[in-house]
Amino acid sequence: MNKIPWWKKSVVYQIYPKSFYDANGDGIGDLQGIIKKLDYLVELGVDVLWLNPIYRSPQVDNGYDISNYHEIEPELGNMADFNELLKKAHEKNLKIILDLVVNHTSDQHPWFKQAKKSKSNSYHDYYIWKAPVDQHAPNNWGSSFGDSAWTYEKDIAEYYLHLFAKEQPDLNWENKKVRNEIYNLMRFWLDKGIDGFRMDVISLISKDPAYLDGPIIQNKKYGSYYAGAANGPRVHEYLREMNHEVLTQYDIMTVGETPHTTVEEATKYTAAHNHELNMVFHFDHMHLDYGKNGKFSTKRFSLSALKQVFTNWQEGMAQHDGWNSLYWSNHDQARPVTRFGTDKHEYREAAAKMLGTILHMQQGTPFIFEGEELGMTNTRFKSISDYNDIETKLIYKDFTENKHLSADYAMETIYLKSRDNARTPVPWSAEDNAGFSAGKPWILPNPNYEQINVEKVLSDRNSVFYYYKRLIELRHKLPIITTGKYCLLNPQDEDNYSFLRETDDEILFVTGNFTEKKLVVDLPDSLTELEGKLIISNFSALGTVLKQLELPAYGTAVYLFTKS
Ligand code: NOJ
Repeated sequence: MNKIPWWKKSVVYQIYPKSFYDANGDGIGDLQGIIKKLDYLVELGVDVLWLNPIYRSPQVDNGYDISNYHEIEPELGNMADFNELLKKAHEKNLKIILDLVVNHTSDQHPWFKQAKKSKSNSYHDYYIWKAPVDQHAPNNWGSSFGDSAWTYEKDIAEYYLHLFAKEQPDLNWENKKVRNEIYNLMRFWLDKGIDGFRMDVISLISKDPAYLDGPIIQNKKYGSYYAGAANGPRVHEYLREMNHEVLTQYDIMTVGETPHTTVEEATKYTAAHNHELNMVFHFDHMHLDYGKNGKFSTKRFSLSALKQVFTNWQEGMAQHDGWNSLYWSNHDQARPVTRFGTDKHEYREAAAKMLGTILHMQQGTPFIFEGEELGMTNTRFKSISDYNDIETKLIYKDFTENKHLSADYAMETIYLKSRDNARTPVPWSAEDNAGFSAGKPWILPNPNYEQINVEKVLSDRNSVFYYYKRLIELRHKLPIITTGKYCLLNPQDEDNYSFLRETDDEILFVTGNFTEKKLVVDLPDSLTELEGKLIISNFSALGTVLKQLELPAYGTAVYLFTKS
């Protein structure tokens, strides 16, 4: 049997560098700040750190608009800091993966500055340009942030495409010169010894050359670009080329961010024999609480739908030799306790542990977003001017000005969905500025930092932090968590999520209560002849289990059964 690759047995911790820890007191987290906190991450027990973009950038989209791929953003430090971070992390057995943002660059990148000079400039074809059609943009596509996806450059009488902000022009992957530039910059970082990449919106790099109008969905002003840009005609060809020319030369991990990707499509990206990526981030569970205006809504998910999503992905990846990434949150999403559990003081910690259990006991590579191990919640800033995120600001404008929705409603949806919920500084202590910075933080800390902070969780053996630490230890200790077959138990139940993981010799029974009520959970018949031993729970559960189990509010427990 093939050896199991390291990334299948690893747990990844995501660091949003600007918000992690500020070592120089300028209010912005930095690379030296990460170095100072490496021992904290060692204590948690994670294997890999994923850093959001650290390259030079005008910061229109917090680093996802890159103007130089070979330099470090000065707000975060310099190359010497990065080299030191990589070396120190490796000495502590922590791997580092970087964000690869190559669907687009910044409009301040030298390539784009050249490209917009003239149609005959040798960089012009590095980007996607179209002549106006009837004095309008070439099609009706809207960008992910709400405005048109096309911006007109009047000096050369052409539109350029940007699926995100107008300061993020899309690269033209059809041009082999562009692909070679990208492969070179990847080699630059890999040769430094980094351990892989998270690839930003990699499912969008190949556009259908027809550039047809897209349907208007979610009450938007512009058409959707998904049919013409997601999982486009050459995306798999490009990734195989990248794999062949670059990835396969290194012992690394890759995770593609793939909006609008179904299980079926994802198996093409991740099946080992396809030689593309190791795993992808899908969005199916993130879409469960979309409302008629899309992401910014007050709708709550239903548990049966969540179970169906996770189950489809668990079964689909296993059947097709693919591999799952497992995540509740990241820098673009709300805090999971608020979104999938509860903020209520009396249940918050139980809910955080329960959610962690349901995710970490699945098959795949778990990703923990900074602060999740503290059970951090969403935040409610008083005014829209306290928010920093470009998406949040544009939504507020769209809701209040174009859609004539009330400011209160707009703020309610922002409290639930703004990306800034995830971007508030990591609260290190109850001191000023949550112990994050000696200066004024670039974004306000979550006001509950006196109750939820690192110092506090480290001084309490029952904290969410130590629970996450045990979840990680269990994954390292019990191969069944990596290899066991997943089986959902009660698909329609809206309160309880229970599933099995099974190998030839063992069965793991995982259960979680998503409500404030007490629940009685029946074990499946196949387990009632066996005796299960408790391996983790967030309440004082019985050490062994027979036919039934009582779960308190947001209770969770995992039992291991040995087949006779
Ligand atoms: C996805 C990233 O996660 C998000 O933060 C960013 O705004 C877009 N891609 C554009 O790069």
